[in-house]
Amino acid sequence: MKNTIVVGAQWGDEGKGKLVDVLAEQSDLVVRFNGGGNAGHTVMHAGETYKFHYMPSGMLHDKICILGTGVVINPKDLLEEIESFTGSGHAPRLRISARAHVIFPHHQMIDAKGGGKIGTTGRGIGPTYSQKASRINLRILDIIADDAESRIKTALRDVKDMLIADQIFSQAEYQEYCNSVSTEYAAYGQEFKPFVTDTEDLVRVAGKNNETVLFEGAQGTLLDLNYGTYPFVTSSSTLAAAAFVGGGAIPGVPIRILGITKAYTTRVGEGPFPTELEGDAATNLREVGHEYGATTGRPRRVGHLDLYALRYAVRISGIQELAMTKIDTLALVSGVKACVGYKINGKEIDYFPADAPTLELVEPIYTDIEPVADLSKEEWVKLKGASKAQLPESIRNYIKFIEDFVEVPITILSHGPERNETIVF
Ligand code: GDP
Ligand code: IMO
Ligand code: MG
Repeated sequence: MKNTIVVGAQWGDEGKGKLVDVLAEQSDLVVRFNGGGNAGHTVMHAGETYKFHYMPSGMLHDKICILGTGVVINPKDLLEEIESFTGSGHAPRLRISARAHVIFPHHQMIDAKGGGKIGTTGRGIGPTYSQKASRINLRILDIIADDAESRIKTALRDVKDMLIADQIFSQAEYQEYCNSVSTEYAAYGQEFKPFVTDTEDLVRVAGKNNETVLFEGAQGTLLDLNYGTYPFVTSSSTLAAAAFVGGGAIPGVPIRILGITKAYTTRVGEGPFPTELEGDAATNLREVGHEYGATTGRPRRVGHLDLYALRYAVRISGIQELAMTKIDTLALVSGVKACVGYKINGKEIDYFPADAPTLELVEPIYTDIEPVADLSKEEWVKLKGASKAQLPESIRNYIKFIEDFVEVPITILSHGPERNETIVF
């Protein structure tokens, strides 16, 4: 099997965790390459639900699971996640990049104070990536070093004036924080030490040994820092290209780029959402689809399938195939349409607006869709291994309509949250 990059093709929460769990079975390594604890990836198997914020969603398969250089890590949260996972009887085969950046409590405090207008997850993601870009942040290799405490104190001195000026701490609080966090994080470093390595080299060697690598993106293409609905985006690159920079994928090695999309659209946090539903229709879709954030529990905003935005995501991320999730949810609601274009001031446009206020103004052009068949579990079981031609006509038509519009095939259909509720064409 070829190496695969899995990325979200909408605004996150498309079902990446579920699909990575499905695909991990045939992979040797699973690599997260961007984001941090803002991600919430759900895997359901044998009646158990797992919510991964850090650990790659291949953990259930006992594969080598890697947190690559592009990931930002809150050691406390990651350790808690490892503990809760180990407690459920699975030994983590986790490897962490020495070069990955560390999220400190002050990053979370800055995020809590300033992240409101974007509606961030409050996990300190933006402040950590911005201090990384400013070259004043610490990496995992710093907190596992013998002189970790002094490295942490020195790094904190670089941001002291800013933390006090921004009223994150008073002078006295800063001093106390400096002492306590340096001891605390140096201790986390010691716990991490066994997991830390040069993860890009693991990926390179795996390639030489003909092993299969699965790259797991976090968030979605429309939340990408460069190409998403800026400024209402996350602070990392969420495109497939980020797997090369943050996960060690090697340019030139054949790779399959799989985008994940829901059968409709959701978004958490602020920012433009042209096909957003309101009122009872929104409440109904949210409840039927259990659309509440896996990380923050916030109700997700829900809307019609935005094919125009999906096609943009496919093009910008180089997505070659799509997996579509939640066809079972779509079957239970009525009135969901497909958006096939945008108008501004009554005139159809032929580009995806880069400017958020402009995107707020667009008027979606909708087409009605035929209601898709609501199949029972037994009927889905009978379709295990089916080809597209064997699907009920309404589902086949929906798939064909999407494929024709976005110009890539749907190669996987997910009809429930469990691993086995999946048809691979
Ligand atoms: P991720 O962030 O992309 O991994 O997605 P999340 O885990 O945040 O959100 C996806 C939600 O949809 C989770 O609760 C999954 O268990 C659920 N899910 C995934 N695929 C399907 C599906 O085909 N049908 C249904 N009903 N739920 C699904
Ligand atoms: P997964 O990997 C959905 C959104 C936040 C906010 C914006 C910036 O589970 O798909 P951040 O905390 O990253 O600075 O927040 O991005 N966001 C997500 N939305 N799924 C996610 O991850 C998200 N990660 C961040 O809601 O709008
Ligand atoms: Mg999620």
